[in-house]
Amino acid sequence: MSAYPPREEEPAQAGAPSPFRVESSGRYRSRRTRRPGEVNLKSSGLLDARAADLHRRTLAGLDPLEVLTYPVLRDVYAEIADHLDADPDGLVLTAGSDPGLGLLVRAFPRARRIVLHHPNYEGWQKFARIAGCRLDQVPPDPGTGRFSLADLAARLRGGPPAFVVVTQPHSFTGQVHARAELESLARAVADHGSLLVLDTAYLAFTEGGEKEIGTLTGRPHPPHVVRVNTFSKCFGLSGARIAVLSSHPDTVRPLLDLDPEGPVSGTAVALLRACLREQPLFEEIWAGVREVREHFSRGVEEALPGWRALPGGGNFATWQVASPREAADAAAHLHAHGYVVRAVPSTPDSPAAVRIGVTDRSTADRVTDLLLRREQAVAR
Ligand SMILES: Cc1ncc(COP(=O)(O)O)c(C=O)c1O
Repeated sequence: MSAYPPREEEPAQAGAPSPFRVESSGRYRSRRTRRPGEVNLKSSGLLDARAADLHRRTLAGLDPLEVLTYPVLRDVYAEIADHLDADPDGLVLTAGSDPGLGLLVRAFPRARRIVLHHPNYEGWQKFARIAGCRLDQVPPDPGTGRFSLADLAARLRGGPPAFVVVTQPHSFTGQVHARAELESLARAVADHGSLLVLDTAYLAFTEGGEKEIGTLTGRPHPPHVVRVNTFSKCFGLSGARIAVLSSHPDTVRPLLDLDPEGPVSGTAVALLRACLREQPLFEEIWAGVREVREHFSRGVEEALPGWRALPGGGNFATWQVASPREAADAAAHLHAHGYVVRAVPSTPDSPAAVRIGVTDRSTADRVTDLLLRREQAVAR
């Protein structure tokens, strides 16, 4: 019989080894900052006044019950299934798609290789490191800077089963892969016993984008494909932290074993549901972004000799520039004027580039003007 009250455990001896005394730099502590008035055109969130107004109204009308009690997810799953034409049993909500990527690499511990284009979204570096996966990075064509899915398939075949990552459109260049190319890669991935991770963070901004991902998603969902869909960019919900993974129910069950829904907040769900109800508004916003993207791409190209606009499908514009130095100096110049933009990490195989988020025409014109003034100052 055990004693009651239980005997206190022996106190730890000072200096005794403890499993909690681990040397660490606390690597992933958030270190973001925001200066007053600064415009972040680096993260490619949806900085749109109409989206902001919708969020303001949703928050003002939020039923306190959504905060006082734990979230109920059934209805939102049905609504997302309608929105993505997906099986509700194949959906998993996560607190942003970053945790979704982390979930994938933890749920399938026998796969320790991630085959992906490089450069790519930095989240993959982070989750590869956390989960002890090896990044098998495939460069673009050094001549054109274009990525090929056939190159990913070839690299995949050279090793054990892997996560094969495609960002459609590509998160730095905006490159959109054609449906036939995607379907051919999906077949190669299935034959190899691997998993295709299709990150559609920016797909809403690609005209006809949903059609281009073809039979890779939807019903019935192929079990060897997982779609990762953040709502940060398309609905302007970066700060709400909400995303969904979509696949075949058999593929998502191991993900659910890791309790991904716990961190999803009722407030984030309410914001998402309001966006899903306002599909026509967002269609209009996305079409506007496409228009400004073209205007911005051409405007900078015409103003700055040496900057070449890449054809892209995201809510950002990207230009190849002469050197990493040129990219870094242009980014520093815009930063000094309150605009945060991205100098795309360059590699020996990929040309230097600058990526700038697309919002409205006046912001695009202001940034173009600042870049032009810098060019003129350098030329003097
Ligand atoms: C390609 C890509 N995937 C995923 C994410 C992460 O999105 P979330 O805000 O849902 O974590 C980003 C954010 O920049 C991204 O660019």
